[in-house]
Amino acid sequence: MSVRLEEICPAVREAEYAVRGAIPTRAQELEAQGRRIIYCNIGNPQSLGQKPLTWLRQVLSLCEWPELADKAPEAFPEDVRKTAREILAGSKHGLGAYSESKGMKFVRQAVAAFIRERDGIESDPESIYITDGASKGVQAVLRILIAGPEDGIMIPIPQYPLYSATITLYEGKQVHYYLDEENGWKLNRSMLEESLAEARRYGVRVKAISVINPGNPTGSVLDEENIAMVLDFAREHGLAVLADEVYQNNVYREGDRFVSFAKVLEGKGFRDVSLFSFHSCSKGFLGECGQRGGYLEVRNVPADVVAQLTKLQSISLCANTVGQAAVYLLVRPPRPGEPSRDLYVRERDGILAELRSRAELLAEGLNRIPGIRCNPIAGAMYAYPRITLPAGRTDQDYCMALLEKTGICVVPGGGFGQLPGTSHFRTTILPPTDQIREVVKAIGEFQASFR
Ligand SMILES: Cc1ncc(COP(=O)(O)O)c(C=O)c1O
Repeated sequence: MSVRLEEICPAVREAEYAVRGAIPTRAQELEAQGRRIIYCNIGNPQSLGQKPLTWLRQVLSLCEWPELADKAPEAFPEDVRKTAREILAGSKHGLGAYSESKGMKFVRQAVAAFIRERDGIESDPESIYITDGASKGVQAVLRILIAGPEDGIMIPIPQYPLYSATITLYEGKQVHYYLDEENGWKLNRSMLEESLAEARRYGVRVKAISVINPGNPTGSVLDEENIAMVLDFAREHGLAVLADEVYQNNVYREGDRFVSFAKVLEGKGFRDVSLFSFHSCSKGFLGECGQRGGYLEVRNVPADVVAQLTKLQSISLCANTVGQAAVYLLVRPPRPGEPSRDLYVRERDGILAELRSRAELLAEGLNRIPGIRCNPIAGAMYAYPRITLPAGRTDQDYCMALLEKTGICVVPGGGFGQLPGTSHFRTTILPPTDQIREVVKAIGEFQASFR
């Protein structure tokens, strides 16, 4: 008997993931027909020409094939060789063997050292899980939190659809809270209270609030005060917090800086708010999306729950070991004085300078177009401009027509969520600068003609 669509798990059929939805699918069809497409739909830097960091690739190459160090001695500086040896020694049996379910201990120790140095707070390697990208960490946490169909998770609107799709998949309730577009997409306490109260009125048992900082798709960077407000809110209402911090290295504006939820939590001395924080090799200046490396750190989570999380991870054995090595390299870059340091700094700063200038170029360009309004792109890799549409037309129509007419592939606001009555699209800042100029020009011409 063959499997029939009507009989598969309905939650899988219901889950939606717009970033790879109808518009990108149509873009691929057009590309197969010979059309030139500019993919602005997904935060996948290396697919748009961003170069991997030499440091990371050199070390990974030696981890995969240590003999290479002797075959091409001039290709590998001493610190690269030393780091590859450290990884192989730490992994005990090399990258071809399963590791501990939480991830290799020396990688977790390096992550803890990174958090200590970043935030000036304690971090315990036993509270860290190395995951196949941040996605799997988020999914593990949502899996343990959603215990039944009445359990809800507060998610921002707009949000990255990993959250909405996974909550649907695990048959929980999405509890939407709006981000304040008029106020740089910050979180607003009264909007949070309103959304929580409304969910509770409908009998939803709200378990946690998820925050993305810097924001996808909003490009916002939250300040310490806003983070403190969220933690106070969570504490008052007995919610856990999921802090998605995968864009922590993508902060572009003078005066802004990334502040972690963990640091603010520790500053407040809260011992009764469970915090789950996520980071990744996919974003920042590494852009190593395909290596699938990420980590999850848990705080204020009781040992019996941690044990369940570990068991959950053990069901899929372990995260891929190359991704684990990549996490090690994310948190342990070459240090000042080491031979690879200068090249690393040059490559890192070059990528960040490019992203910064594209962020400015794109936001300014979009804001010059009548009918489009875009908040500054302070961080992450996206713009989420608001568009004025003719009556009866949706953002889906707009993005499809934009694709058909110009070959530019962006994602309609509906995929991320938006305040009713408003329309948006999301574009990345990732195409090369000359293509960003082209995108702005083409959107300007298209906007004027879209009816
Ligand atoms: C906010 C956010 N969280 C998580 C992820 C997933 O990252 P990873 O590749 O580490 O799974 C993304 C990817 O775009 C993202 O934008």
